Amino acid sequence: MNYIKKNLFIEKVNATKIAAKYKTPIYCYSYNKLRKNISNLKSTFKSFKPLLCFSVKSNANIEILKEIGKLDCGADVVSLGELSMALRAGIKPKKIVFSGIGKTSNEIKFAIEKKILLINAESKSEILEIERISKNKKKKVDVGIRLNPNTDAKTLKMISTGKEENKFGVTENIFLELVDYVNNSQYLNLKCLSVHIGSQILDSRPYKKMLNVLKRVIKKSNHKFEYIDLGGGMGIQYNNEKKLNYNDYKREINFFLKNHKSKIIFEPGRSIIADTAVLISKIIYIKKTKIKNFIILDAGMNDFMRPALYGAKHKIIPLIKNQKKLKKLVEFVGPICETTDRFLSIKGFQNLAEKDLVAICDVGAYGMSLASNYNLRPKPIELLVKGNQMRVIKKKQKLSDIF
Ligand code: LLP
Repeated sequence: MNYIKKNLFIEKVNATKIAAKYKTPIYCYSYNKLRKNISNLKSTFKSFKPLLCFSVKSNANIEILKEIGKLDCGADVVSLGELSMALRAGIKPKKIVFSGIGKTSNEIKFAIEKKILLINAESKSEILEIERISKNKKKKVDVGIRLNPNTDAKTLKMISTGKEENKFGVTENIFLELVDYVNNSQYLNLKCLSVHIGSQILDSRPYKKMLNVLKRVIKKSNHKFEYIDLGGGMGIQYNNEKKLNYNDYKREINFFLKNHKSKIIFEPGRSIIADTAVLISKIIYIKKTKIKNFIILDAGMNDFMRPALYGAKHKIIPLIKNQKKLKKLVEFVGPICETTDRFLSIKGFQNLAEKDLVAICDVGAYGMSLASNYNLRPKPIELLVKGNQMRVIKKKQKLSDIF
């Protein structure tokens, strides 16, 4: 994404032309950015060649998943829907891991039938259920157990998962108990220890702490894990935050691997897809008040929910730049009947007029996948740009689809 003269381009396509061709709001992804993100991750961690299982919850568009599969990634899924979508996108079962605390019997059955790489269990009851189903099917099933390392990820409370008070994984004692149980089971193969301490992590120290807990627990368990699944969580810079120090994280994993000969799995979502996309939106009206001007967009919290849900701040940029700066505070809001349906308050934005176009940045992760039909609004179109080519990867939903 860059400006050529005054115009915003997505790769080699002028964003204003995109908005002229399709109805806003429009999710627009860059293929080359996606490819680059994956190759950066691969080259950062090349010393131990992890299996990258893209976290489908961050973006479940089948065309995106196909491209990610072609770039040699697997998938991390959390439901029958995500597992089916990953398979439909051509991702090999032996590169799919299944996480989640509430897998139903049907979901477990399907995962076993499809012979996926791992079912990462998150409780004793789930282990018993997987065992019951594999016994019925007379199969031995490869499983992982998710440890809750009680590590503070130092990220938003709402997206932290690795503390004891969070519902994810099992505590150290139960983990050790389950290792013994699974090792004595005829129908389960204990292959993996998995963890995931949270999302949008920008400080490498929590990862270090997590790895130290792993070392201790693995030693106590006296089990050789073929896989260590470190989850995802690598954060991105939405607003010039301090970058996650990947070298520190890599160094810690290398240390860890000196004494543990396991294959590392990552489940990145955001770090692969977040900064590949913008949401192009048109200003419907501008409502002036004494204290600020409301810039009413045709995108709302149903299209992009992160600001309303987490107070997340995403940069907003114009599709065509101008020189005039507004003195007044502007607040970009959506048309939804909720006060939290607002994207950003900002001073010093450029002059804006009704019908102008703007782009909300870094919406590729947890953007479309969290979109809803709230206020009975159809979900937006998704486009993928590659060089000067552009293709629709999901049509705009029609009202008739909802009815
Ligand atoms: N693995 C597991 C088990 C997870 O629960 C998650 C995310 C990931 C991997 C991927 O994490 P990532 O690399 O994307 O950080 N909707 C929130 C984020 C929720 C994350 C849930 N779990 C947001 O928009 O910030």
